[in-house]
Amino acid sequence: MLSVENLGMQFGGLKALSEVTMKVERGEFLGIIGPNGAGKTTFFHAVSGIYLPTSGKVRIDGAEFQGKSADAFCKAGVARTFQTPRVFSDMTVHDNVRFAFTFGNRGGDASLIDEVIDEVHIGSLRQELAGELPPARQRQLEIAMALATAPRLLLLDEVAAGLTEGEVDEVARLILRLRDQYQLTVVWIEHAVRTLMRTVDRVAVLHFGQLLADGAPAEVTADPKVISAYLGDEVTQ
Ligand SMILES: Nc1ncnc2c1ncn2[C@@H]1O[C@H](COP(=O)(O)OP(=O)(O)OP(=O)(O)O)[C@@H](O)[C@H]1O
Ligand SMILES: [Mg+2]
Repeated sequence: MLSVENLGMQFGGLKALSEVTMKVERGEFLGIIGPNGAGKTTFFHAVSGIYLPTSGKVRIDGAEFQGKSADAFCKAGVARTFQTPRVFSDMTVHDNVRFAFTFGNRGGDASLIDEVIDEVHIGSLRQELAGELPPARQRQLEIAMALATAPRLLLLDEVAAGLTEGEVDEVARLILRLRDQYQLTVVWIEHAVRTLMRTVDRVAVLHFGQLLADGAPAEVTADPKVISAYLGDEVTQ
């Protein structure tokens, strides 16, 4: 579904991503972890047309996409959320999702708008202004907006940030359900390592812009490089 080869993103002297090569297979659920500033969000920007990578290739279903617009990525079935939710504050929940549906323009049925609002559990907030929702609700709205574009690949950037462990588990269940219902390939960036490890099929670890490890959760959790760089004794005890 998605592959990157020697992907690099440089900001002046800073290499936010350096020679990252990896694949996400169709139907797979990949988690991405790594310390603050490791390049996780930059990776999403580079594979959704927000940033033009300074080197390397981005492929969607085998076709080269580096240098294409966010709109082109969207039309190819890539949807994402932002770490800081980007919603239209002075529009209602419904109108935000309707906008995303129109932007996606995949010729589907407009009933998808109401369906995805219900699916992410914000049905009772339909007529509320997006700007008046608390951050956690704005993130749910962003997921609904992403789903309204009828994606095949869903990229989630810290959609469970700031939630309690129980709430993070709920978000994980929601993502799994959405994945099954809409047959999505999912990449989820999250610092809540325990829940993430329990949920995903595979985990990639970014560290100073490099891919430090990539494998099954149990493998990655036991990897000494990962433990010393990031996990410490957080998930090993
Ligand atoms: N537009 C930009 N201009 C300059 N530097 C940037 C830009 N975007 C990101 N960076 C830098 O690139 C590095 C990686 O940032 P990024 O946001 O990808 O990290 P992250 O892994 O998502 O971190 P966090 O867990 O805190 O969200 C950081 O050092 C950041 O300051
Ligand atoms: Mg980030």
